[in-house]
Parts: sequence; structure tokens; C-alpha cells
Amino acid sequence: MTAAERSVTFDQAADYYDRTRALPNATVRAMVDLLRGELAGRGRALESGVGTGRIALPLYRAGARMAGVDLSAPMLQRLAYNAGGTAPFPVAVADATRLPFAEDTFGAGIACHVLHLVADWKLATDELVRVVQPGGVLLVDPGGGWPDEHAELTTRFQQEANAQAALPGVGAGADRMLTGLGRAADLDAAMAARGARLRLLPTVANPSTKPLSAVIGEMEEGQRSWNWQLPSTDLRRAGAAVRAWAQQRWGDLDAGRELVGEIQWRAYDLPG
Ligand SMILES: C[S@@+](CC[C@H](N)C(=O)[O-])C[C@H]1O[C@@H](n2cnc3c(N)ncnc32)[C@H](O)[C@@H]1O
Repeated sequence: MTAAERSVTFDQAADYYDRTRALPNATVRAMVDLLRGELAGRGRALESGVGTGRIALPLYRAGARMAGVDLSAPMLQRLAYNAGGTAPFPVAVADATRLPFAEDTFGAGIACHVLHLVADWKLATDELVRVVQPGGVLLVDPGGGWPDEHAELTTRFQQEANAQAALPGVGAGADRMLTGLGRAADLDAAMAARGARLRLLPTVANPSTKPLSAVIGEMEEGQRSWNWQLPSTDLRRAGAAVRAWAQQRWGDLDAGRELVGEIQWRAYDLPG
């Protein structure tokens, strides 16, 4: 089975990823401050699953020395486009579970919203540990961080669309139920077994003013990796049902409301 079949690549999301996953400017600033502090005084940082550079580009602009790999060439092309035409730091199409670098090449490793997409997520973290120098740090955001209301809408949508049959969308054919990282606690345990020390970094506020109707619309349009395998008829039916349910619960779904989310980064200090 190929790496792409054991992971969820984002080729099909390259055109809408930034629009649908954008973070508020203040959130980006706070996150960059936090991560810059962690990266200061270390060698170049490698982001596995760097995507469009949503995290890596602001870090680079703030002075961090960066590199990135991703399975998806279209996502890396979008990163270059976002940077004005050329990636401003080394990037490569590569599999996080088979990094094309010698051991101890980097001072830090970053994995943001990627390990849940990789069936062999332990291998992906092994690889980051291998290419990061002893005494370095792995910085991981395992996912989430959106407002509770968005999470509720997602759960409801998944129920209505009977998404269980397709979740988590990793793998192909009989192996499509292969799962990536599910719980951060599993990552903590795997890293502890490697002698790494966990630090939970201060949370970063991630408010959202996106109308709830837009959140439902993105799921209806099939713009979440967990629903790429679902037929559009199921998505439309689920969207209509969730809209009716959500109107009862929250009223006008087009209303502007500021909802509260929180991003929690985990730092794993590698043994020296
Ligand atoms: C949800 S996006 C996150 C992108 C970026 N880290 C961010 O936070 O915006 C996940 C990215 O991981 C990539 N990816 C998935 N499996 C991968 C693997 N095994 N190796 C490298 N990249 C992978 C996808 O192609 C996609 O670009």
C-alpha cells in the first residue's frame, strides 16, 4: 500500500484550504509568538504536513528558520503562491513516515493537524524524533481548537450523514478504516516511551465569527477530509437536517456571533 493510501493527502483541498481553515490575525500572532519562543536558539525546524504554510509561513516571516514536507504537491504549490511565487524555505513532496533527511538534521519538528490523517502516526513521530537533534523539541497541535458549537455541528452532521462508515477516511478499499492519531493522550504515551518530556503550552484564544450557516455549508460542499468519501446526495441531505436542527438550537444561523475556541500546543522535549 502506498503512503498516500495510508494517509489522507489534501490535493483536492488546495483551492479552498486557506479560505476554510483561516485563523484570525490575532490568533496567528499569539501562536507565532508562542512557537517562536520555543524555536529560539535551535536549528532549522521541519514541519511535517506543512500544507499551504498556514503555520510555517508566519513563523518564517517572524524569523524562524523553517523547512517543510507534504505528500501533496498542490498544497505545496499553494504555499509557494502564498509566499509570492516561490517557497521562501526548503520544501519537498515527501511522506512524514519516511522523511528524506539524515538523522539529527533539524533543531525542532512541528506537526500541526496532521497526525490524525496518518495511519502510521507513530512512525511519523519516530521519523521526527530521528531527524531532530537530541535535546531538540517536537511541537504538536493534534487538532481541534475550534469553538464547541462547530464541534457540535460536526458531530451532528456526521451522525446525519452516517459518516461512521467512512471515518476516518484513511486508506483505501478494505483498509479504509485505518485510523490515524485519535487521542492526544496516545501521543503523550508514545512520546513518554521515547523519553520525551511533555509541556502543555499556554492555550491560544481562537475566536470565530464565521456564521454557523457557513460551517454547515462547508460540510455540505464536502470540504472536510472526513467527508470526502461520502456521496454528495448524503451531504446535501445531512446539511438540510443539520440546518433545521441548528436553527432550533441557535436561531438565525446567518447571525454574526463571536464564538470561543482555544488552541493547545504540546511541546515534547527530547532527551539530550
Ligand atoms: C489539515 S492539513 C494541515 C496543514 C498545516 N500543517 C496546517 O496546519 O495548516 C494536513 C496536511 O498534511 C498532509 N499529509 C497527510 N498525510 C501526510 C503524510 N503521510 N506525509 C506528509 N504530509 C501528509 C496533507 O496533504 C495536508 O497538506
